[in-house]
Amino acid sequence: MKIGIPKELKNNENRVALPPSGVYELIQSGHSVVVETEAGFGSAFTDEAYKEVGATVVNTPEKVWEQDMVMKVKEPLEEEYKYFREGLILFTYLHLAANKPVAQALQKAKVTAVAYENVQLDDNTLPLLSPMSEIAGRMAAQIGAEFLESPKGGKGIVLAGVPGVRKGKVVIIGGGVAGTNAAKIAHGLGAKVTILDVNIDRLKELDTEFNGQIETLMSNSFNIEEQLKTADLVVGAVLLPGRKAPTLVTRDMVKNMPDHSVVIDIAIDQGGIFETETKTTTHDDPTYIEEGVTHYAVANMPGAVAQTATIALSNSTLPFAKKLVQAPIEEVLQNEPALYRGTNTYKGYLVHAAVAEDLEIEHTSLKDLL
Ligand SMILES: NC(=O)c1ccc[n+]([C@@H]2O[C@H](COP(=O)([O-])OP(=O)(O)OC[C@H]3O[C@@H](n4cnc5c(N)ncnc54)[C@H](O)[C@@H]3O)[C@@H](O)[C@H]2O)c1
Repeated sequence: MKIGIPKELKNNENRVALPPSGVYELIQSGHSVVVETEAGFGSAFTDEAYKEVGATVVNTPEKVWEQDMVMKVKEPLEEEYKYFREGLILFTYLHLAANKPVAQALQKAKVTAVAYENVQLDDNTLPLLSPMSEIAGRMAAQIGAEFLESPKGGKGIVLAGVPGVRKGKVVIIGGGVAGTNAAKIAHGLGAKVTILDVNIDRLKELDTEFNGQIETLMSNSFNIEEQLKTADLVVGAVLLPGRKAPTLVTRDMVKNMPDHSVVIDIAIDQGGIFETETKTTTHDDPTYIEEGVTHYAVANMPGAVAQTATIALSNSTLPFAKKLVQAPIEEVLQNEPALYRGTNTYKGYLVHAAVAEDLEIEHTSLKDLL
């Protein structure tokens, strides 16, 4: 099969779908790969490195999008919709529940799109989301620490405190992969950490994992409100797979937070959990103030640490990419349950039930179509 890898267009998105080593593996498996010039630059991979492993490097995105399957990192931007066409297989992060225009464009052009974030193993884990959640979680703590400094508009505190001065308080809502990784770094930086989750088993695991050194609380409106009153940094890390993120933090709760506190909503890619989030931001201009609190709402956080992120992402995506191109798509989806679950659109039909419900678009059963 022919695979295309375009250069990412999103603001400061420096990741690329595959490094040269991943491209080499696809070529060794009998496929051909077309890479857009400079696609790997942001991750420190040169065009020459792709050519050396047998890829064709082209100057025009059209040539990349002509291939049977296009592998990307982030959801296509509006200027890329024109490349959608019948028969195209798209394998990338899509976050359709928070992005109706992309969903409609995929439907209109009859594209088959498999979303990284919805590829789900039999044990319900999300193997293509977790590497980026690990990175975004770890970044959240260090970015939060930075925006708590006075020159960045923060209240002027260091998370570790010093002898005789209190530690910073970090409240993390959602104790999955991103939330746990945010907790690890915040705890390592010396902060007082509280994690809220609705899953009591997960809270027990966290208690064991951190040797009781962080506080765990059931996530409900009362606890969130109480915790936020004294928080320095709040991290949103909730996920309802395939769904738009629930609004768990109201404007009033943010109003009651101390001024110059910081909110980092990792879940902004699914629409965010804060009522005060009026927009998604970019690495160029990552924050804005609402109710006296700094809001950071970058939907592609790992794009800023592209080398780490590209390699971590492709370590996970490549085995699934190889499966996707090994046979006609109907056959692949019938035999690979994880990819079946990750399919958002099939030949233009919206086949992911949770995504369809959130978008209020009619859902078609993939089983019936195959
Ligand atoms: N902004 C970015 O750059 C970026 C990067 C990676 C991941 N993400 C996003 O981060 C989010 C978290 O991803 P993850 O991999 O950690 O998911 P995960 O499934 O590992 O964890 C989600 C957690 O949320 C918990 N949860 C569900 N409802 C809750 C509620 N009402 N209150 C508290 N907790 C609740 C679940 O029990 C689970 O433990 C996702 O939206 C993902 O898309 C964003």
